Amino acid sequence: MMRPIRSGPRLATFVVRTSYPFPPMRHLLLFLILLLSAPVSAQPTPPDTRMLLPVPVQANWGKSRFAVKSDFTWQVFTPTQTPETQAADSAVTEAVERLVLPTLLPGKAGTPSRRRASPLPTAALVLQYGRPGNLLTVGDDESYTLRVTPMGVALNANTHLGILRGLATLRQLAQPTKQGLSVLPEVDVVDTPRFPWRGLLIDAARHFMPVAVVKRNLDGMWATKLNVLHWHLSDDQGFRVESKLFPRLHQVGGQGQFYTQRQIREVVRYAGRRGIRVIPELDMPGHATAWLAAYPRLASNDSVYGVSTRWGVLNIAMDPTRETTYSFVDSLLSEVTPLFPDPYFHIGGDENDGRQWRRNPRIVAYMKQNGFVTDKGLPDKHALQAYYNQRVLAMLVRYKKQLVGWDEILGPGLPTSAVIQSWRGKKGLYDAAKAGHQALLSNGYYIDLNLSAASHYSPDPLPQDAPLTPEQQKLILGGEATMWAEFADSVIVDSRIWPRAAAVAERLWSAGTVRNVPDMYRRLALFSPQLETLGLQHRKAPAQLLRQLAGSPAAVPPLRTLAEVLEPVKEYKRHFQGFKYTTQTPLNRLVDAAPAESDVARTFGQLVDSVLVPANGRSAAAFQRHLKTLRAQLQLWKNNDALVQPTLQQNPLLKEYAPLSTNLKTAAALALERLTLLEKGQVPPPATPAAALKQLEALKAPAGQAELAVLPHLRRLVEAK
Ligand code: ACM
Repeated sequence: MMRPIRSGPRLATFVVRTSYPFPPMRHLLLFLILLLSAPVSAQPTPPDTRMLLPVPVQANWGKSRFAVKSDFTWQVFTPTQTPETQAADSAVTEAVERLVLPTLLPGKAGTPSRRRASPLPTAALVLQYGRPGNLLTVGDDESYTLRVTPMGVALNANTHLGILRGLATLRQLAQPTKQGLSVLPEVDVVDTPRFPWRGLLIDAARHFMPVAVVKRNLDGMWATKLNVLHWHLSDDQGFRVESKLFPRLHQVGGQGQFYTQRQIREVVRYAGRRGIRVIPELDMPGHATAWLAAYPRLASNDSVYGVSTRWGVLNIAMDPTRETTYSFVDSLLSEVTPLFPDPYFHIGGDENDGRQWRRNPRIVAYMKQNGFVTDKGLPDKHALQAYYNQRVLAMLVRYKKQLVGWDEILGPGLPTSAVIQSWRGKKGLYDAAKAGHQALLSNGYYIDLNLSAASHYSPDPLPQDAPLTPEQQKLILGGEATMWAEFADSVIVDSRIWPRAAAVAERLWSAGTVRNVPDMYRRLALFSPQLETLGLQHRKAPAQLLRQLAGSPAAVPPLRTLAEVLEPVKEYKRHFQGFKYTTQTPLNRLVDAAPAESDVARTFGQLVDSVLVPANGRSAAAFQRHLKTLRAQLQLWKNNDALVQPTLQQNPLLKEYAPLSTNLKTAAALALERLTLLEKGQVPPPATPAAALKQLEALKAPAGQAELAVLPHLRRLVEAK
């Protein structure tokens, strides 16, 4: 049965329109009001967030709901047909069919019919947009309105990009029913992004990421409204683009692991259909050992390099004094730039201290001859690299590309057309904007460091106290989460990106006032399983690795109990704990199955809070219940050691983690002792637990580059007075 959308009064203005260039007038008004009330402090109070991530500008929830029926139909109204509208229409259709309908009708195989050629919006889901969005214009309109009433769903936008964003919201609303259908809460959403550039860097150079991995992460990006894939395609450890002009780049530099040009076009197209731009990065003149291994004539000295199997900052750089270097780079750019329609091209530019230039008398002489010297007359690597950047920038201008580089490239003489990506601190971001450059924030968004989602949620590209004029503020385009891949291969990379990248996505999309950390975690927990149904493997892959390590099904649960309270050591400490990692090291140990941020540890921390922090109105019964849950958890950890030790001892890959299990047992036992006192009401306890605290301190030692994420919470319990 068709369900015409007619009677819902809130839809009235929407339904009667016969031309579809713009959303209804009252939404335009709302947008105007929002635009005019630009200062963050004047933003409306954040909405009731429910399950939405990122939080939209406005969500007014009704009391009713829309039930998706098995005869569900949908309809899209597009403007007059042109080749651009056809492409936009087909992207919208693909998004509806592949990304949204499987969630609206989870139990139904096949695709519900799309209502064709009906002049009226009579389907259950009606999409309307005014024009195809221009993906390659940074800041093109991504706003949308989404209305769910008991009668159906209306998604309305100025551009098809807005429709793609609204579809991601729609997907989050659907709650599955037992009948294999879904229900959606009644809601009226008005939404638009805060920043136009919301990126995720995927490093395919350190570990190669096959096309399927990139594609499923593009789906995850779509779901969080991220709109830029920054594809880090070359580094010391690999060159990943097929070059027909310089085939040794991918054959030697990529060691056979590279993207063919056809695959690159396919990924760019796939991303484009999700409203995601793709920006390639070819890192130069440093981080370029793979180029030098393929073409030694590019090097700054006579060494013969292999593609690096080591990690770290190598400070090996191209020779910027030879014209042949520039003709090589120019030819390569002439070949590579057409693969990427985006107007921006990233040349890296980071982490080259110039030591190879200073050590080569010929290069030093060149620097002196050309005035690349400091006030004291010493060779100035910054000046030489600035010269290199200017040469490459001129090439990119010819290929109609705008240069993007890491904040090291900022300096006198850099044309303001260069975009600066700040990774070393906020200063680079602000300095760039003050000097007239567009700028992006990545400092604080390094998700490869295994820090908490909360820590990435906090940094804001434009906090209220940003020391910038309104004109300079306009130059801050947004930011990017960075997934550097020294410690992530194609199997576990999803688990290092998701769900934490969604916290960055929200920071870049939602109002600056949306800062409620517990609420972010609550929604992250709802969103994470939705990513699995999109094909992300962030939960599946670590679980599979655990099964592999455990050896037998019976051994899995105790091993999981241990793994889920571990986290890899933070930042880049993994390089410095007596285990030598190379590009060849398999990432198949317990540390690789451990979550970047342990949910179990975090929720245990909340439980500890609920016992230790006096809560208003908490009943004695609730307190007893919390104590009981706490006790059960601690007992589980205490008892787990005996269960898991045989497994740890018999697998050489697991043995190094045995101390962590013992430490968990010891810490849980100490916490249990304290809990007993709390339960007996013997608070404050008879003596300060100095000995226990000393013991806990000793338990902090990592093993196998993993650490016990629950220790700080156990410590709070033991310290409780
Ligand atoms: C960087 O992390 N070296 C940009």
